[in-house]
Amino acid sequence: MLIRTGRDGFEHPVASEITPREVYEDRRQLLKWMAGGAAGVGLAAWAGREAFAQQVQRPGKLAPIADVRSTVPGAVTMEKVTSYQDATSYNNFYEFGTDKSDPAQNAHTLQTRPWTVEVSGLVKKPAKFAIDDLIKLAPQEERIYRLRCVEGWSMVIPWVGFSLSKLIEKAEPLGNAHFVQFLSLADAKTMPMVSSRILDWPYFEGLRMDEAMHPLTLLAFGMYGEVLPKQNGAPVRIVVPWKYGFKSAKSIVQIRLTEGMPPTAWNKAAANEYGFYSNVNPNVDHPRWSQATERRIGEDGLFAKRRKTLMFNGYEAQVGQLYAGMDLRKNY
Ligand code: MTE
Repeated sequence: MLIRTGRDGFEHPVASEITPREVYEDRRQLLKWMAGGAAGVGLAAWAGREAFAQQVQRPGKLAPIADVRSTVPGAVTMEKVTSYQDATSYNNFYEFGTDKSDPAQNAHTLQTRPWTVEVSGLVKKPAKFAIDDLIKLAPQEERIYRLRCVEGWSMVIPWVGFSLSKLIEKAEPLGNAHFVQFLSLADAKTMPMVSSRILDWPYFEGLRMDEAMHPLTLLAFGMYGEVLPKQNGAPVRIVVPWKYGFKSAKSIVQIRLTEGMPPTAWNKAAANEYGFYSNVNPNVDHPRWSQATERRIGEDGLFAKRRKTLMFNGYEAQVGQLYAGMDLRKNY
């Protein structure tokens, strides 16, 4: 059940939807988090003091990745985190197959070392980063984001990474850099579907410069306190929480700054269905289905109701102004 606070116009979860007491009652963790500055203003108004202590359970399957809780406004939703099992077994990663279970089954072939990410195009300082140097470029933060897929389902995932802007700033963008393009790895030897024609490979996505520089846009190296599982886009991916999930390119190898709007894989495949912006918008239907509601993965019981999808996936306060004056029906 959701309650509308009226204060910021968003619906927030009631306390019963927040991670159970046994998970969050670790006082030392609570103090660590509060010391990290996450005691945000006004949070207590809606969910009570205990909500401060939501902790993410670490599955202990992969290498831990050090982090502090993010203080970026909007970076930590208090909604109940999706189970690690669900987040790592229900995926879209077409390089490994088109079924939701394919990436978990097939992505073990992905080689994540050595791995290089190149920052190129309209920058003063183009650079190539070995993944282990890139990880150390800025402090790793834990951010709990909603991810809303265009297909009508959503998850809440604790990512670990830092704002993409930190990397872009380092490259010193030129004045005519207005867009950023992301390219994923396309390796036919380790990615079975790359030899197919279901998409134009490599998977490519893009953002406008101000979207890419927004502090919520994350360069993610981990989730649930551990390095990214391969099916979720190891060793590094983008996460843009206010856009449909397909904007969040996985296993990226290149970040290219451009003057003109770059092509994107899904727009190229079906331009009338997938626009460049792809902001989560319950008022603009996909040509083949409504975008007004969503199914939260893990809430599959007989009586589970679909949730109302929120404008900009609930991040309107943080990003709405980026689109002031734009016709969001035309710019879908
Ligand atoms: N990135 C690449 N390279 N290939 C893909 O097929 N799928 C996208 C996005 N990034 C995709 C990708 C889609 S449609 C979604 S919904 C999200 O990844 C899913 O991320 P998740 O599996 O970690 O939840």
